[in-house]
Order: sequence, then structure tokens, then C-alpha cells
Amino acid sequence: MQQKIITLCIISCLITSTLAVKGIDIADAFNNFTCFKNAGYQFAIIRGYRSYGAVDPNGATNMKNAQAAGLITDAYFFPCKGKITAAQQVSDFISAFGQEEENSTNGLYGTIWVDVETNPSTGCGWSSSDYTGNCNFLNDLITTFKNKGKLTGIYSSKYQWETIFGSASACAKFTSLPLWYAHYDNSPSFSDYAKYSFGGWTTPNIKQYNGDQTVCNADVDLNFY
Ligand SMILES: *[C@@H]1O[C@H](CO)[C@@H](O)[C@H](O)[C@H]1NC(C)=O
Ligand SMILES: *[C@@H]1O[C@H](CO)[C@@H](O)[C@H](O)[C@H]1NC(C)=O
Repeated sequence: MQQKIITLCIISCLITSTLAVKGIDIADAFNNFTCFKNAGYQFAIIRGYRSYGAVDPNGATNMKNAQAAGLITDAYFFPCKGKITAAQQVSDFISAFGQEEENSTNGLYGTIWVDVETNPSTGCGWSSSDYTGNCNFLNDLITTFKNKGKLTGIYSSKYQWETIFGSASACAKFTSLPLWYAHYDNSPSFSDYAKYSFGGWTTPNIKQYNGDQTVCNADVDLNFY
């Protein structure tokens, strides 16, 4: 009996580690994405829009370098609520990163992950009292991207969702989009999600399982899908 359990575990653990796809997300300019590839990472989520309300000038070069190294490349978008309209932010992003074929994943990036987390930049913070306004702003961004034929997903965590929308169950209108959630338990697995769920999603797509790590001399977060 004991022997059987151990054997089963060895087999299932092998399968799990074979299927696990790991990636990094990165904000800074970087030019050695081959190093990530050699270290076993398969995708890179690259900052395309900064929390203070501007396109990241290093984003396009990072995306090109990541693709040249053979990584699957997505973008993340840290929106600014307050200074700039959702429509303007979307249009600035699209002008900077190319107007690809509608719904195509063959451009510089596949999915645009919109960050739903506390924004410390002056004039860019989510409202601390108007939860409905925060939800409407996120909806504006997502709808505008969608109308331009872009694929979006949401990045957040249970704690951030509660802080920005008032509760874990609030603003549950994006469940048709993929979810990338953060929970730094250093475990590349979704088994914790049931306990940390929010926004109406029952199944996540990507987990950020560790933050601010040094890989290839770069500051990255670690992700799994
Ligand atoms: C990139 O990283 C690799 C390690 O994977 C290293 O050998 C190589 O020298 C680095 N290249 C540059 C240009 O830094
Ligand atoms: C792009 O996606 C949208 C939303 O899913 C859809 O309505 C539209 O028909 C798609 N466009 C193309 C060219 O496939």
C-alpha cells in the first residue's frame, strides 16, 4: 500500500512538473532574454504601460528581444485612474505597440494583462471610497481594448480586489477574461486558488507565485500556468 502511494506520487509529480509552464514578468529594460529561456522559463510578460500614466518606452524593445529569444510574450498594463481617460490610455498603448491584425496573437504581444493593484503614483490612484467608479473605470478600459480587437486579461490578488472594489465578490463582471492572480507562496500550483478567489473567477489561468526575485541579474516576478 505504502509502496503504491509512493509510486503514484512519483508518476503524478513527474506529470505535473512536465506540464508546468513557467515564466517571468519584468518591468526594467533588459537585453538577455536568452538567459531566461536557458533557465527554463517559457514566457515573458512585459510592462507596456506605467503606473504614472504613460507608455513604457522600453516595452517594445523588451518584447522584440523576448520573442527573438523564443519566449511567448504578453504585455502588462498598469492603468492610471484619475489623470487620463481610459480611451486615451488604450489608444496610447496601441500606437506604441503596433496596430496588429484584429485579435491576432502574432504581434509583439498576445494578451494585455490589466493590473488591478494599488497604484502609488500621484494622481493615478484608485478611489478609496468610490468602488463603483473603480469598477466602471476598469470596465471602460476592457471594453475599449475589446472594441479595438485586443485580447485582455486581468491581473490582481484577493487582497487588492477587496481594497479596490470593496469586497472579494464585488465587480464580478470580467469572468469571461483570463485571470492572472498573485499569491506569493512560492508554489507553482493553482491548488491555493479556492482559498484566495475573487471577482467571480472559479478557475485561474496564471499564478504569480513569487515576487522581486533575481534571475539572470534581472529583477523579475515568477509565474506559472
Ligand atoms: C546572457 O546570459 C548568459 C547566461 O545564460 C550568459 O552566458 C551570457 O554571457 C549573457 N549575455 C550577455 C550579452 O549578457
Ligand atoms: C475579434 O474578437 C471580437 C470579440 O471576441 C469579435 O467580436 C470579432 O468578431 C473578432 N474579429 C475577428 C476579425 O475575428
